[in-house]
Amino acid sequence: MENQKKILIVDDEPDHCNIVSRALMAEGYITRTAYNGPKAVEASREERFDIYLLDIRMQPWDGIKVLEEIRKLSSDDQVIMLTAFSDVDIAVKCMKLGAYDFLNKPINLDELLITVANAIKAKELQQEVKTLKTQIEIHKSPEQLLGESPKMKELQGIIEHIASHDITVMIRGDSGTGKELTARALHAKSPRAKSPFVSVDCATLPESLVESELFGYERGAFTGATARKTGRFEHAADGTLFLDEIGNLPIPVQVKLLRVLQERRFYRLGGKEEQVFKAKIITATNINLEQAIRQGHFREDLYYRLNEFMLRLPTLRERCEDIPLLAKHFLNVFNRQFNKSVKEICPEVMSWFEQYAWPGNVRELKNVIKRAVVLANERVEVGHLPEKQLTEMEVPERQPSPPEPVWSDLSGTSLKEIVKREVSNIESRVIRDTLETTHWNRTITARKLEIDYKTLYNKMKEYGLG
Ligand SMILES: Nc1ncnc2c1ncn2[C@@H]1O[C@H](COP(=O)(O)OP(=O)(O)OP(=O)(O)O)[C@@H](O)[C@H]1O
Ligand SMILES: [Mg+2]
Repeated sequence: MENQKKILIVDDEPDHCNIVSRALMAEGYITRTAYNGPKAVEASREERFDIYLLDIRMQPWDGIKVLEEIRKLSSDDQVIMLTAFSDVDIAVKCMKLGAYDFLNKPINLDELLITVANAIKAKELQQEVKTLKTQIEIHKSPEQLLGESPKMKELQGIIEHIASHDITVMIRGDSGTGKELTARALHAKSPRAKSPFVSVDCATLPESLVESELFGYERGAFTGATARKTGRFEHAADGTLFLDEIGNLPIPVQVKLLRVLQERRFYRLGGKEEQVFKAKIITATNINLEQAIRQGHFREDLYYRLNEFMLRLPTLRERCEDIPLLAKHFLNVFNRQFNKSVKEICPEVMSWFEQYAWPGNVRELKNVIKRAVVLANERVEVGHLPEKQLTEMEVPERQPSPPEPVWSDLSGTSLKEIVKREVSNIESRVIRDTLETTHWNRTITARKLEIDYKTLYNKMKEYGLG
């Protein structure tokens, strides 16, 4: 059976080996024996054992030396030491070297079987913990700020440079360009990476709650404050405090925030005990703060304090060469999330992706792929894209062609022939114009003209288009 556990019995007394081996085999274990240390090490080089039963008094190596040698080969197999002398010092040494347990000779077989069973359980648990830990790590590992375009390469380089410095960073960029992800990357690459990253969305916090959320409060500070509550400044400790949509911070809170940044101290609301502010501040905004300053909605002094370094994120349109990379990344992400195996994105969809304006930037692309993965089986096709976005595809407006006379050539033909020829002219012109406006995307052209793909294909052939 595959699940049978393997045990190596190492003892210089063959009789002892036989008795122990028989008892273990009767319980379903596979056993091997070695009569001295070098043979034991040789055996463990050849195959893996779950459990080692090691006698301590042996020649030429004692059990401790064998234990050390086995540990060099494998660190997670369980070793149980056996000795005829109950010697506490040796026991302690063995445990320090990572032995699982220590049994006295003559062996009590029942005790031995229980100890072996427990050692196996402990090993399985260790393995389970290891697996869980890696799974948690995978889950925890921060999302990567992906991008191979020159703009993204430059951004990644700047992040590497500034992450280790304690300067306030202001991240500017349109909605969905990755401002929060950039703030997390700055934190993850900074010496504060092991401390908290606390994100506060100033746009969604009601004005009346902003102060208490940030500063915390003492019991009785205001009606309803029935117990002390710590605020985000304290939660951030010596990590990073990310203030998203900073432009939404009410003016009185802006004044208080400026003071905290200058003095690195603050009080909880209603509190007398001074708190030290140790976190690094990163802010983000997608509004024009300079205009907000001119209009009196944002304090200029705070702006300079928060803006020691400004990062401006490109829109997805400005780095459309990254679209295939991002699209494939999200395809993998959602395949995993929805337990699907959509293999690819068809070239037509990809070319649509590269032409579309992406007003919602990376977030919009992520959502489009999420929806497509849910709908698709083998590959993502045009039919899996949202209708609304398909029709909103931004393409340059074409200048209408100057009207051509319908009766271009009337010489020597019947009415039927003239009509047929002119209809063909019009048809070919309409098809060519539509193809141009859709950047020669046949599926979208067919849909716009309300004909099927095959008809379009045949007509294109007939008129020598494409
Ligand atoms: N470069 C990137 N690589 C991978 N994923 C990205 C990238 N940029 C953004 N994303 C993903 O797109 C989504 C939007 O990113 P994020 O929340 O950081 O944007 P934002 O600029 O803060 O948006 P908003 O202005 O709407 O708050 C997130 O799910 C994020 O993981
Ligand atoms: Mg955001």
